[in-house]
Amino acid sequence: MSETESLEQVAVIGAGTMGNGIAQVCAQSSLRVRVCDLSAAVLERAQKSVAASLDRIVAKGKLTAEQRDAALGRIAWGSSLEAAVEGADVVIEAVPERMELKVDTFRKVDAAAPKTALLGSNTSSLSITEIAASLGDPSRLVGMHFFNPVPVMDLLEVVRGVRTTDATVDRAVSFAKVIGKTSIVVRDVPGFATSRLGVALGAEAIRMLESGVASAEDIDRAMELGYRHPMGPLRLTDLVGLDVRLAILDHLHKELGEQFRAPPLLRQMVRAGKLGKKSGEGFYKWPDEKK
Ligand code: 3HC
Repeated sequence: MSETESLEQVAVIGAGTMGNGIAQVCAQSSLRVRVCDLSAAVLERAQKSVAASLDRIVAKGKLTAEQRDAALGRIAWGSSLEAAVEGADVVIEAVPERMELKVDTFRKVDAAAPKTALLGSNTSSLSITEIAASLGDPSRLVGMHFFNPVPVMDLLEVVRGVRTTDATVDRAVSFAKVIGKTSIVVRDVPGFATSRLGVALGAEAIRMLESGVASAEDIDRAMELGYRHPMGPLRLTDLVGLDVRLAILDHLHKELGEQFRAPPLLRQMVRAGKLGKKSGEGFYKWPDEKK
């Protein structure tokens, strides 16, 4: 396999919910992974989360204890981005959804990672084309959008920026196969395919709750039982994070217009620190999750 085809050493920048899930699936697929995050607390939580998720898979009999230990052994955790990307074949950025942070991260990646590395951003709605503009060679950046919980969700949404080459897209699609995900390829438009549809449903559910159409439980039940969604839109917003959903809505509102204006209730809840599962409360209470 040539240098540009190798996909064995992965760097994940950011160890939050998505970053640690991405690291886990890569390690489960026999890839070596280095994860970096500036926060020691986030790194510690991430390690616990990966261990708990793997334990869950072992308990289901889908992984042996030896395979779990081997997967854990393939992940290295640290605070240095430069050390994480050294010698990497694939670099996946999973930092918070702020353009300036993504751009700054990729400037550092550009300076320290091999020039042959495939670069992926896990952004859920920001422009891949704009992020890529910070790179010496924008053709090697592609959107690699994962879904929460990463070990369970089958999709990888591959986003083609204006300057992304076919070779880069093909490599990202191959990477999806290596880690057991099914890919779709979409053009770089605000919210891509998934976030645009996902937040439209979520925002409408919040507006319905706001105007007293039904309780949160019954709005969720409507979609769970009436449409066979695995989880209703309000519970799903809790899972994803109200702050994450608000950031996507604000971005889509700016880019696509009025239909994506964030419901005031969502903004108020975020201001109050009700971020969903990760903060212990959102539309539901999550007493066991509060860190
Ligand atoms: N690690 C490992 N396995 C896990 C897991 C985790 N973190 N979470 C769930 N599982 C496994 C369970 O062990 C179980 O395995 P089994 O099928 O072998 O029994 C299976 O997943 C189902 O889990 P549960 O039985 O506990 O519960 P549910 O059946 O209610 O499923 C769920 C939970 C998978 C989260 C399901 O409710 C679901 O699919 N919800 C929708 C999730 C979704 O839409 N995610 C996308 C959000 S949008 C996004 O992420 C984009 C971003 O950019 C914002």
